[in-house]
Amino acid sequence: MEQIVILDFGSQFTQVIARRIRECHVYSTILPYDTPASTLAGLKPRGLILSGGPSSVYDPDAPLPDAGIFKLGVPILGICYGVQLLTHFLGGKVESGLKREYGKGTLTLKDPSAALFANLPDRLQIWNSHGDKLTQLPDGFKAVAASDNSEFAAIEDTARNFHGLQFHPEVAHTPRGRDIIANFVHGICGCGAQWTMRHFIEQAVEEIQAQIGGERVILGLSGGVDSSVAAALLHKAVGKQLTCIFVNNGLLRAREPEVVREVFCRHFKIRLQYRNASRLFLGRLKGVTDPERKRKIIGKTFIEVFAAAARRAGRARFLAQGTLYPDVIESVPIAGNPAALIKSHHNVGGLPKNLKFQLTEPLKRLFKDEVRRLGLELGLPEEIIFRQPFPGPGLAVRILGAVTPKRCDILRAADSIVVEEMKASGWYTKIWQGFAVLLPVRSVGVMGDERTYENTIVIRAVESQDGMTADWAKLPYDLLEKLSNRIINEVKGVNRVCLDISSKPPATIEWE
Ligand code: XMP
Repeated sequence: MEQIVILDFGSQFTQVIARRIRECHVYSTILPYDTPASTLAGLKPRGLILSGGPSSVYDPDAPLPDAGIFKLGVPILGICYGVQLLTHFLGGKVESGLKREYGKGTLTLKDPSAALFANLPDRLQIWNSHGDKLTQLPDGFKAVAASDNSEFAAIEDTARNFHGLQFHPEVAHTPRGRDIIANFVHGICGCGAQWTMRHFIEQAVEEIQAQIGGERVILGLSGGVDSSVAAALLHKAVGKQLTCIFVNNGLLRAREPEVVREVFCRHFKIRLQYRNASRLFLGRLKGVTDPERKRKIIGKTFIEVFAAAARRAGRARFLAQGTLYPDVIESVPIAGNPAALIKSHHNVGGLPKNLKFQLTEPLKRLFKDEVRRLGLELGLPEEIIFRQPFPGPGLAVRILGAVTPKRCDILRAADSIVVEEMKASGWYTKIWQGFAVLLPVRSVGVMGDERTYENTIVIRAVESQDGMTADWAKLPYDLLEKLSNRIINEVKGVNRVCLDISSKPPATIEWE
């Protein structure tokens, strides 16, 4: 399949570039900056992109590509640090900018025939973030656009088909950036629009069948988007050879086990082993208040229950996991690159490596938004596809203090109201997560003529791109009012509702 390879020099936007390309229906992969040219040649990319990065080309330990990439004969686009590399390697000059150019700017097109700017206006809003700047172009290059601070904001060498942009076309603050990227992948690299979910399904089904053969596969279904879509895809490929295991740990949201069984057993007719282990989990959590101990107990118990269910499912050679592309990209460990820190840090609900299975990870080439599109294409309901993340240890990390069946019921009831009202008001899909937390704090209230001494619920609602940082969501007062009224009136045992207005960092999204 046609693909564009992005060499990652440590920009926090590298994955965004890959997603923009895929939005053009062209497959893209991210590889480390020092991938040998011979490896790249073997992949036969239609084009190469050199990402941005926090370094200066003159740093003694600046990340540099294999010089052979400039001889591969494929079109290259350098973005930000990438254009400085092009300039530096091909004989031009880069200097430390006296003034760092950061934030919004205006681009003025100098050469209307420039391929990157085909069908775009002469003036564009752009977004910059760089310190160094180009001061002399290598032979063969010419400037095709200028910005407020640089006469070389966009450059090209039409003979070699090399292009460079000092600004970031991939970010939302460059509103026409998508068109610039589309011009590169379609106009310059000549890619068609082959990367569609239908195409992906056809190819993935073949690959899964080839890998699995006549063997059996098991998959731990959590009810979340990734494991659900992986299940639907595997089922399409190997049907009854797949057994899904769904563990009810007693810490799930209201109606969760019912929804999962409805969708997977009744609708998809997938073989599903449903294990209700609520009593086991809650028994082991009795009296435990320390957050880390809670997580450890839940993780260990999950593995036990899962392993027993897997044994009962028959002899399976494969274990399927809903790993996504961001988890498998080798992040570039360059100081100043926050993306290098973005790795899944929550393993509860995960399985140890030594379970004797071979892994199959059918979603490992996809970004989250692609997984959602794939799920819809496979016929999964929107209720599953657009659900918010839910932690593996479930309600246990939202019940501060001891977890008891009664406190689970209180939180479940309050949480259902939060989800219901968020959905009714349209906020559910606008934010990253919105949920209720139960505090180990009681306070005095009055209800009718009676004094009450009851529990406190906190509403936690956050906006976030990836869960690594988050800001509290500015929910409208009328929605908050409705939530507070309904929770206090309808949930027995609650007489006070508070709102969490902490961002992450320094707070976390979950309370434990
Ligand atoms: P924190 O609380 O660390 O959460 O700010 C970041 C995101 O991760 C989710 N989360 C988990 N997901 N297993 C998971 O699968 C876990 O143990 C876990 N703990 C937190 C959390 O809901 C948020 O979206």
